Amino acid sequence: MFARYFIPVLVISLQYVKAEYSLDDLSTALANIPEDGRLEFCELMNKYNYPCERHEVITKDGYILRIFRIPRYTEEAVFLQHGFIDSSDTWGIRRHESLAAWLYNNTYDVWLGNIRGNMHSRAHVTLDPDHSDFWDFSFHEMAIYDVPAMIDFILEQTGQTKLQVIAHSQGTQLFYVLGALNPGYSAKIKHVICYAPIAYLKHAEQQLFPLVSLAGGPLLSAALGYIGRGEILRDSSAFMGLMRKACALGLVGYTACGLGVASVMFGPDPAQLEPEFLPIAFAHYPCGSSMKNAVHLAQIIASDRFAQYDYGLENFRRYGSLQPPVYDLSKVPFNVSLYVGKNDRLSAIEDVDRLRAELNPEVVQEYYVIPYEKWNHIDFVWGKSPYVDDYLFVHVKKILQNNNY
Ligand SMILES: *[C@@H]1O[C@H](CO)[C@@H](O)[C@H](O)[C@H]1NC(C)=O
Ligand SMILES: *[C@@H]1O[C@H](CO)[C@@H](O)[C@H](O)[C@H]1NC(C)=O
Repeated sequence: MFARYFIPVLVISLQYVKAEYSLDDLSTALANIPEDGRLEFCELMNKYNYPCERHEVITKDGYILRIFRIPRYTEEAVFLQHGFIDSSDTWGIRRHESLAAWLYNNTYDVWLGNIRGNMHSRAHVTLDPDHSDFWDFSFHEMAIYDVPAMIDFILEQTGQTKLQVIAHSQGTQLFYVLGALNPGYSAKIKHVICYAPIAYLKHAEQQLFPLVSLAGGPLLSAALGYIGRGEILRDSSAFMGLMRKACALGLVGYTACGLGVASVMFGPDPAQLEPEFLPIAFAHYPCGSSMKNAVHLAQIIASDRFAQYDYGLENFRRYGSLQPPVYDLSKVPFNVSLYVGKNDRLSAIEDVDRLRAELNPEVVQEYYVIPYEKWNHIDFVWGKSPYVDDYLFVHVKKILQNNNY
C-alpha cells in the first residue's frame, strides 16, 4: 500500500506543504548533507580536478537555461541531456566514476544541458518563476525550444557542424519530439544514445501511477489542472530540504530514500545504490519541473498514445481535431541507439520495443539490453564502478567512435 501511493501522494502534497516550513528549517536541513551534496555542479567537478564552465542560453520563447561544459576545446563535442525533474548534476555526482568524468578522460568536449524549470534554469527574460505563467510548458516546449537552443549554442561555440548526444529517460523523449516535428535537426545531430528511452509508458510500473488508472486521461488532467499549472518538486523548497535531511539520516534515511523512493521508483539494485551515496544523490535530485509536464506524461500513460498535450475541448481550436496529434516516430531523422535495463520500472522493454518498431528501421543503429539482471532506470546515470565500466562505458565508447566522422 505504501509503495503504491507514495509517489503520487508525495508529488501532489508538495504543492501544499512547501509553504508550511520556514527557511530556518531549510538551513538546518542543509547542514546535515555531505559537502558533495551541497556543491553546485562546477564546484563539484572542480573539487575532483575537472575544469568546468557555466554558459547561458536564451530560448526563442525567452527561457534562460544554464548549461555546463567540461571543456576540451579542440575535441569532439558530446551533449548530455538529463531526464524528468533531473539536472546536469546527475551526470557528475558519481564524481570520478561518472559519465562526465569518463567522457572527459576519453578526450571528449563535454556539454551538459539543463531544461527549463529545473534548479539551474529557473529564469526567463520577462516571466517570473514565482508566477504560474512561467510554468505553462511540458516536454513539448522543452523539445521544440530548449534542445535546439542548446545545440545551436554548442555548435556556434565549438565551430563544429554536428554533435553526438547521450540522453536519459525524458531526455530521450525530447529527441523523438524534436525529430518528429523538426527533421532539419538531422543536419546537426550525428547520433543520439538513448539511455532508458521514454516514448510509450504502457508497461511502466502501474503501482507508481494509481491516479492514472483510476481517473483516466481527461479527468486526471482536470484534477491536476485544478491543483495548478505550477511548479513541482522545486529544489529549494523547504519541504525538499527536509526530505534531503531525512535521506542523510543513516539507516532510517536509507530505508526511506533508498528502499522507499529509489527502489520503488527505479527498480531495486542495492549493489549500485549504496547508503553513502544516497544523501549526495538526493541532494541533487529531484530538482523541479512544471505540473503540466507531469500531466502530459500522465496523459501518455492513460491514452497510450505518444501525442501532444491534451487540452480537452480546446483541442479543436489548437489542433483542429478532437484528439491531440501524435508525434510521428517514423519521421525521426537522426540515428539512435536504444539502451534498456531489464529491471527498469519506468522504461520497460515492451514499451521500448514498440518505440523501436515505430522508428524508421534505418535510424536504429543499436538496440542494447544491458546484460545485468538488476540494471534499473537510474543505474544509467547513478550506476557505479565496476558495473558502469563493464556494462555501459565499453559499449558507449564503441558507438561514439563509430560516429566520429
Ligand atoms: C578519470 O581520470 C581521473 C584522473 O586520472 C581518475 O581518477 C578517474 O578514475 C577517471 N575516471 C573515469 C571514469 O575514467
Ligand atoms: C546513420 O548511420 C549510417 C551508418 O550507420 C550513415 O550512413 C547515415 O548517414 C547516418 N545518418 C545520419 C542522419 O547521420
